[in-house]
Amino acid sequence: MSRRTVGIAMNGVTGRMGMNQHLIRSIVAIRERGGLRLDDGTVIWPEPVLVGRDAEKLERLAREHGIARWTTNLDAAVADPECEIFFDAATTAARPALLERAIAAGKHVYCEKPLAPTLDEALHIARLARERGVKNGIVHDKLYLPGFLKLRRLIDGGFFGRILSVRGEFGYWVFEGTWGPAPQRPSWNYRAEDGGGVILDMFCHWSYVLEYLIAPVRGVTALGATHIPQRVDESGRVYEATADDAAYGIFQLDGGIVAQINSSWCVRVNRDELVEFQIDGTHGSAVVGLRSCKIQPRELTPRPVWNPDAPNPIDFAAAWSEVPDEPFDNGFLVQWEQFLRHVVRDEPFPYDFVSGAKGVQLAEAGLTSWREKRFVDVPELVVDRVPV
Ligand SMILES: NC(=O)c1ccc[n+]([C@@H]2O[C@H](COP(=O)([O-])OP(=O)(O)OC[C@H]3O[C@@H](n4cnc5c(N)ncnc54)[C@H](O)[C@@H]3O)[C@@H](O)[C@H]2O)c1
Repeated sequence: MSRRTVGIAMNGVTGRMGMNQHLIRSIVAIRERGGLRLDDGTVIWPEPVLVGRDAEKLERLAREHGIARWTTNLDAAVADPECEIFFDAATTAARPALLERAIAAGKHVYCEKPLAPTLDEALHIARLARERGVKNGIVHDKLYLPGFLKLRRLIDGGFFGRILSVRGEFGYWVFEGTWGPAPQRPSWNYRAEDGGGVILDMFCHWSYVLEYLIAPVRGVTALGATHIPQRVDESGRVYEATADDAAYGIFQLDGGIVAQINSSWCVRVNRDELVEFQIDGTHGSAVVGLRSCKIQPRELTPRPVWNPDAPNPIDFAAAWSEVPDEPFDNGFLVQWEQFLRHVVRDEPFPYDFVSGAKGVQLAEAGLTSWREKRFVDVPELVVDRVPV
């Protein structure tokens, strides 16, 4: 058995996503399983170097998870000859400059979404990565959720007939900090100048979810809102929320399919999951969450008749059947494994920086629609002067 060590400079590992999903549940989990075993018996062994600003937190994290190296020297980390991958899960605003440096140093690059705060920056990074010939990938975690994997099976099996529409509801109450429980999201999320805003945060998810599961997005109408104008930050100070905390979007997809998705940090949850999509097709419908997926084929569709004078006789909830569960691995881990195989074995990895740029394109189109109060087309992106 040969072991292939892959050094990874991991930036932003003291943050929510960096620590929980990428470091602990992905890289550390792969190491605890003995590495990633390939068909020929080779084992890919990820060797992270933790990168951040707070030495104390990094040292503790490294100690707790048996990681040998950490550093607060970002320049050294980007250029580290022992690291062939640079990974970033720190703030969105700082991402493009960091990726640019890592690409210039010849590193393969993998990162959280969004790729950059603006489409210009995202395209610049995607082009640099292509020109330099480094492997590049962006997190598309929603595609790996059990609920969405079940949806993929339904679509591939032709369950829906012709898909007509999608209705999505994402969100939960994020506490303001001015009373009661502490805010459960970082304060930069609510400041536009720091790369915050729910449109930038969530439309890049909706871009790939719709494209890879339903159909590519060709245009958008969006209305944003900053419902809560003041919040309290991590140090207890009140700050002005300059970014949108809710977005009401209508997306036009290929094939005349319409998707309506609400994304909000100012709603109280009255659903089974924090995100739920209903997909209606000529032959059946499904309601998909993070984990569950309920279906109603056309043969079992109740036949309601509008009559406000009598109590409704139909138990609508009973007309749905649950798609059985099966064991699914953590989606972030699965995508990390794919990216490691891509780097080591050149196996295909579909979610590159161009895919990441499309997400930013949709977010930017949503913001333009809101600002200019109009429908905004989402044209093919041009990278290397070739539409993709
Ligand atoms: N894929 C998903 O579902 C998902 C969910 C949430 C967030 N994200 C993305 O992950 C990234 C991180 O989000 P988060 O919620 O973990 O944020 P966070 O604030 O919890 O973590 C950010 C990390 O960056 C560091 N950081 C903050 N400011 C910095 C600066 N000026 N210079 C260097 N480092 C700095 C912090 O110390 C922390 O380690 C964002 O790009 C966000 O869009 C993705």
